[in-house]
Amino acid sequence: MPPSKTGIDVLLKEERIFHPPKDLVEQTHVKKWMDAHGIKTYEELLEKAKDLEWFWGEISKELVGWSKPYTKVLEWNPPWVKWFLGAEYNIVCDALDRHVKSWRKNKVAYIWEGEPGDREKLTYAELHGKVCQAANALKSLGVKKGDRVGIYLPMIPELPIAMLACAKIGALHSVVFSGFSAHALRDRVNDSEAKVVITCDGFYRRGKTVPLKKQTDEALQQAPSVEHVIVYKRTGGEVSWNEKRDLWWHEVVDGQKKTCETEILDANDFLYILYTSGTTGKPKGVVHAHGGYAVGTAFTLKWVFDLKDEDVWWCAADIGWVTGHSYIVYAPLILGVTSVLYEGAPDYPKPDRWWSIVERYGVTVLYTSPTSIRLFMRYGEEWPAKHDLSSLRLLGTVGEPINPEAWMWYYKHIGGERCPIMDTWWQTETGSFCISPLPITPLKPGSATRPLPGWTADVYDEEGKPLVNQGGNLVLLTPWPAMFRGLYKDPERYREVYWSKYPNVYLAGDVARIDRDGYFWIQGRADDVLNVAGHRIGNSEVESALVSHEAVAEAAVIGKPHEVKGEAIVAYVVLKRGVEPTEKLREELRGHVAREIGKLARPEEVWFVSDLPKTRSGKIMRRVVKAVVLGKPAGDISTLSNPEAVEEIGKAR
Ligand code: WT7
Repeated sequence: MPPSKTGIDVLLKEERIFHPPKDLVEQTHVKKWMDAHGIKTYEELLEKAKDLEWFWGEISKELVGWSKPYTKVLEWNPPWVKWFLGAEYNIVCDALDRHVKSWRKNKVAYIWEGEPGDREKLTYAELHGKVCQAANALKSLGVKKGDRVGIYLPMIPELPIAMLACAKIGALHSVVFSGFSAHALRDRVNDSEAKVVITCDGFYRRGKTVPLKKQTDEALQQAPSVEHVIVYKRTGGEVSWNEKRDLWWHEVVDGQKKTCETEILDANDFLYILYTSGTTGKPKGVVHAHGGYAVGTAFTLKWVFDLKDEDVWWCAADIGWVTGHSYIVYAPLILGVTSVLYEGAPDYPKPDRWWSIVERYGVTVLYTSPTSIRLFMRYGEEWPAKHDLSSLRLLGTVGEPINPEAWMWYYKHIGGERCPIMDTWWQTETGSFCISPLPITPLKPGSATRPLPGWTADVYDEEGKPLVNQGGNLVLLTPWPAMFRGLYKDPERYREVYWSKYPNVYLAGDVARIDRDGYFWIQGRADDVLNVAGHRIGNSEVESALVSHEAVAEAAVIGKPHEVKGEAIVAYVVLKRGVEPTEKLREELRGHVAREIGKLARPEEVWFVSDLPKTRSGKIMRRVVKAVVLGKPAGDISTLSNPEAVEEIGKAR
């Protein structure tokens, strides 16, 4: 059994059950769908949905309009999947084109608020026009079907506009989170061989401006594939300019035609690449395809958050992560709902910024992460109490296990004890929710409840035997529509990371337990990947950032439970011979990691040691470092070549 993570003990004791309000259940999409299909109970629904071809065929009917119908729902040649074979399609047909031909034309797609307080509403028609203009601009620069476009933008409307523009012409977008550093951008742009990069001069964060163009310039010093950079003017700050390469957005986009033919593709053609951290080496380029992704994301949003036309949906994530790709951009647009988009920090200028947004726009469904909830918990309930949050009817959480205390606080102080909380488990790779309640599901605080209809999940021991009420490896046994289609240009790594441990079974990389009611309790990552503020960061990435500093010889990085962030990064560093371990150097190393990867990865603690625990073959044993830091027994250290190093780790703190 993989090592247990902290938090399990608390979760094991959690026995409260929250039943959904009856009147809410009656109104839900899932209940209506069950009635229409003569399905009486949820168990029966789960059973019926095991016929994947039937279920997804039925579901797809009400969500997407194929340009040419499919001939087969599913082809599963593990580990390779195809959905809706033979169909011709482009996700933009459903996300935009369809709406401008309907009454939704004048419905608001995005309500945007910038950090300084600027506000804007974009209707479906306006959004469509802007996307067409951006698509025409990309075409004018020679971007074609199958080309890759890097997008490095903050939470401004131009980010979804740029993504949809790529999709419209059949190019793949590769969005890089605007909180990532120049180096992170460089690696992703090079791996995806982007032809064009779209960025802005800068953006607002906590009242300051972040110079994004400057970071882009630094990144692109070593990016031979990039022919052009389109720069949106957000702050009006000074930028340096490369005449041959750089173009202002307002010069290249604003004059374009507001119509653009959508490129009709094969439903299995790729939509985007999004990089996520792994245990070793460079980030993994997760690839998603048009057709299955459209069905999978729209279905899950519709059923789990039960969105209706009058809803105001706020997925308060950043579009730079998969949460935003699926549930700020594609799924809400396919469903034709109104979404809130906010640029800035959650507690700026005051800790009630979010609650003022909920009140101002009458947000009805709010989706966020345990990290944010814990942040607000620390500020205290007086901040949400200043605002009328009665418009809310459902809440959601994602990114890491939610501790029952945070769940209860969210339930009480944000949801006014009337809003069920949808704890959705999923990953960049899964593209959509997999394990999650529906609004009809009885809830246990801290559990993502059960696999959704259409999914089969289990928990396996090392040999692949199912475990009941014991921690083990979380696996998914059958394919799902929004499933990733591989790692960009790396089929071997795809097989190795996800499909090699158990034959034909997807290994999620999480430790979980299934209780006697069949409820899943996700306990954290099984591999050496940190979960900081709800996002994955590879221990090895932080280590290699540290080692790239001239003073550092070796480094070991581990995660330690953190009140707000979930996990905090703790680094043990061996300095090069002759380098003095000073307080100044410690700060410098923290800053160095922030520059190399992004602020998210800045180590909370840096400790200097003369040696790290290693196996005889020279492999650093993080497990041992972690045990010492957490004050747990170091376990079997008989394979260590230098047991004295263990003691030094303990003393260094
Ligand atoms: C990892 C995926 C999917 C969007 C955000 C992160 C953890 C995600 C939950 C949840 C417990 C969760 C898992 C997973 N995780 N949702 N509801 N309960 N853990 O995407 O960066 O691909 O990370 O986040 O460890 O493997 P990601």
